Amino acid sequence: MSTPVQATPTKRFFVNSLTRDIELKDAILDLLDNCIDGVVRSKDLKTLEGENVYKGFRADIVLDEQKFEIHDNCGGIPMKIAIEEAFKFGRTNPERDAQLETVGMYGIGMKRAVFKMGTHILVESQHKENRYTVEIPPEWLEDDNDWMLNLENLKLLGTSHEGTSIIVNNLHDEISDRFSQRRGFAKELRDEVGRIFALIIKKGFVVTVNDVEVSPVSFDLLQTDEIEDQKDGIETYQLKSEYNDVMIDIAIGFYRPLASIDEVEEENRLSRSAANAGITIICNDRIVLFRDKSHITGWGSKPVPSFHNQFLPIAGIVRFSSANSENLPLTTTKRGLNLSAKIYWYALEYIKEGVKKFTDFTNQWKGKESEVKSFFEKATYQDPIKMINENEEKVSWRAVPKGRFNEKRVNPSLPKPARRNTKVRITFYREKEEVKLVAEYIYGDSAANPSDIGDFAFEKQYELAKEEL
Ligand SMILES: Nc1ncnc2c1ncn2[C@@H]1O[C@H](COP(=O)(O)OP(=O)(O)OP(=O)(O)O)[C@@H](O)[C@H]1O
Ligand SMILES: [Mg+2]
Repeated sequence: MSTPVQATPTKRFFVNSLTRDIELKDAILDLLDNCIDGVVRSKDLKTLEGENVYKGFRADIVLDEQKFEIHDNCGGIPMKIAIEEAFKFGRTNPERDAQLETVGMYGIGMKRAVFKMGTHILVESQHKENRYTVEIPPEWLEDDNDWMLNLENLKLLGTSHEGTSIIVNNLHDEISDRFSQRRGFAKELRDEVGRIFALIIKKGFVVTVNDVEVSPVSFDLLQTDEIEDQKDGIETYQLKSEYNDVMIDIAIGFYRPLASIDEVEEENRLSRSAANAGITIICNDRIVLFRDKSHITGWGSKPVPSFHNQFLPIAGIVRFSSANSENLPLTTTKRGLNLSAKIYWYALEYIKEGVKKFTDFTNQWKGKESEVKSFFEKATYQDPIKMINENEEKVSWRAVPKGRFNEKRVNPSLPKPARRNTKVRITFYREKEEVKLVAEYIYGDSAANPSDIGDFAFEKQYELAKEEL
């Protein structure tokens, strides 16, 4: 005789384990991902290229101790999808969106985000000729047998109302606390969105958090348009590749002039301005690794040196785009880089090639930073993505020899010093009081720059030496 045995999950256990490991901000970013995916679907975008592809679309987030809301105008959830899939935990139809550069993969993001925050959820959406609402009341979580929800039809509004609103009430205590004004969460979220969605916002998408618009961080690099004699320009390294169905674009270069010796030698720590240096990795326009200076982007892995202050001016972006989001080098959380993906190791070789070019440059000009200033002054800030796309027709693109994925590269020849470096650096330490005294004696100013005093002392001795020897 056989007897059926219960093996269904309790909702509480299921929901708790789902939401435990995701950081609150990441959970909210998942909701924004859905908005962007919504735009891609509603415009049927086959590619994310183009200057203003997200123009006119927006998401407005409002949060306080009582509630969380996100309202978008990104096309809405088709009613059939709402009924059959959107509220399910896990995707039943992974093939959906196969031709589109969306990032939705698992069918979990929205549910995980709302249950992370609270227990009373309202989703209202208008798509084409349907407008409806689905409520998940707190009691729903208590009943382990009934997993069904209700969809109520609402009166259709004008097409400008196509979009989705998600409202979470009954916030968990710790969430309500984090949303209280004194904790500054809205600003934190804005900063994070400005990083992760920088490219998307630059292409016209608007995000507000508590009525304040998010501004995107910049990845602009210095580029000289008019290069005379092929030798006085600051240019970027650029690479394009078609790795199976993933497009890879790389741009690496300088985002500021070389660091002064004082900046390089700021003791025991990375200079503050190092925050803008490093390599950023992007998958379908979302940033998955921000300004990295570790071995992940090749720093300290031969022949590229480890990052230190001398390399402050170096930055770059690496962009992977594909309609098959599972072929992107993403971890399952979609916010991290999958280091075991082959495509990542493939791209890394080119990242290192690019970075090395600019670490070499800073080495060659070490101690002569002032001599290269004029090169930097002639360069202007340019958006690396635009640069890659608009430069496509330019002659400077060369096929990579023996490349297997239609690689094309712009490998700039940066200015080289005319002679080998014949200078040597002199450093010494003296008691502060003694230095002040000498400063007063030479300049009549005890606060004069110690380097100038050292320099003065040397020059004086040098003049004497030349006369007497
Ligand atoms: N703001 C939105 N606009 C349009 N459609 C949406 C929106 N939010 C959710 N959806 C629909 O609901 C579905 C479920 O969303 P959910 O985030 O749970 O999973 P997913 O995006 O498919 O996958 P992932 O777990 O990887 O995010 C989406 O696939 C999408 O069709
Ligand atoms: Mg999603």
